[in-house]
Amino acid sequence: MSNHQSVDPDKLKMFSFLVFSKLEGAVTSGMIHLGDRLGLYRKMSEITSPVSVEQLAGSLSLHPRWVQEWIHNQAAARIIEVEYTAEGERYSLSPEAVVVLADESHPAFGMGMFHRLPQTMNSLQVLPESFRTGIGHDYDSHGPDGAVGIERSFEPWSRTHLLPTVLPALDGIVERLQHGGNVADIGCGAGGAAVRMASAFPRCNVVGYDISRFALARAEERRTSEGVSNVQFRDPRVAPLPEDGSIDLVTAFDCVHDMTHPQEVMEAIRRSLKPDGVWLLVDIKALDTFEETMRRNPMASLMYGISVMSCMSSAMSVAGGAGLGTLGLPESLARRMSHEAGFSRFRRLDIEHSLNAFYEIRP
Ligand SMILES: C[S@@+](CC[C@H](N)C(=O)[O-])C[C@H]1O[C@@H](n2cnc3c(N)ncnc32)[C@H](O)[C@@H]1O
Repeated sequence: MSNHQSVDPDKLKMFSFLVFSKLEGAVTSGMIHLGDRLGLYRKMSEITSPVSVEQLAGSLSLHPRWVQEWIHNQAAARIIEVEYTAEGERYSLSPEAVVVLADESHPAFGMGMFHRLPQTMNSLQVLPESFRTGIGHDYDSHGPDGAVGIERSFEPWSRTHLLPTVLPALDGIVERLQHGGNVADIGCGAGGAAVRMASAFPRCNVVGYDISRFALARAEERRTSEGVSNVQFRDPRVAPLPEDGSIDLVTAFDCVHDMTHPQEVMEAIRRSLKPDGVWLLVDIKALDTFEETMRRNPMASLMYGISVMSCMSSAMSVAGGAGLGTLGLPESLARRMSHEAGFSRFRRLDIEHSLNAFYEIRP
């Protein structure tokens, strides 16, 4: 009661607006999912002049009333541009919108996380129980579309930058792999990076490891459809990384913070590497304290939320899981953990990326 008496009506309005603006973001995200899934953005990017609802709906065999309501959401959210002509409303995408919403080949394409939005949000059904028991859910809990969503999230950047930017930043690796060698991609997901490295270095043997059967199935599909014979995919619980000092390069893209036992995995990586081998660790650019994160990371609330629904949940998916989560592996911790795993050299690479940091780690 006393709390109610001290409520400031102006602050109340502002606070309600703040809370409902989050709901607006969530609901509009659902509409973005539909725009991607129904091909609405792709179609708009193909039709170069501004379109009417009837034209857009007709070109995709969709019902115009539904497209109209959807496009009004998108225009109100300033995602799609609208102009009012004598013939009625006409809609278009800005060049930047085309890149983010419709151009799968561009590194800034952003539909991956929206692809898996229903599966990610569906986790809300089971998470209350996780809050009680402490046990989360691995990536397979998001189903096959979860794996495709992850693939579509990471593939655009990797396709553009892995071979020309990232591997050349590792001292001497490209020259070495051109002569052959063993490469392991840990937490390989749908296998894009492993297939790409195998194609670029035909004398190498590349193995991708992942515990997600949906990701492994998708990786296998890619291996076959892209006709690459020097790559294989394995579940490390059945066929573990060989710990015999035989690997030249281990890579791990955006997965160590998702692991239930990252320290043990780092130790296995250390044992797998040749004395002059290299581990490329790529993980989220996290900061040391929550205070610093609040100050410097404008995406912090999004990332903590994704962590609860996906990354931390995966990292807590067995009893005793480390639970690092999306923002749980800052450089200082990566340094400490790799040192404890027996690595002696750690170098942050000078590679520009909006979310990730890149580390070259050596025995
Ligand atoms: C965010 S995804 C990244 C996938 C891939 N590296 C990419 O860049 O597209 C994280 C992946 O780590 C996998 N993962 C989690 N724990 C793992 C473990 N202990 N060993 C291997 N993979 C693991 C998950 O199944 C998931 O596919």
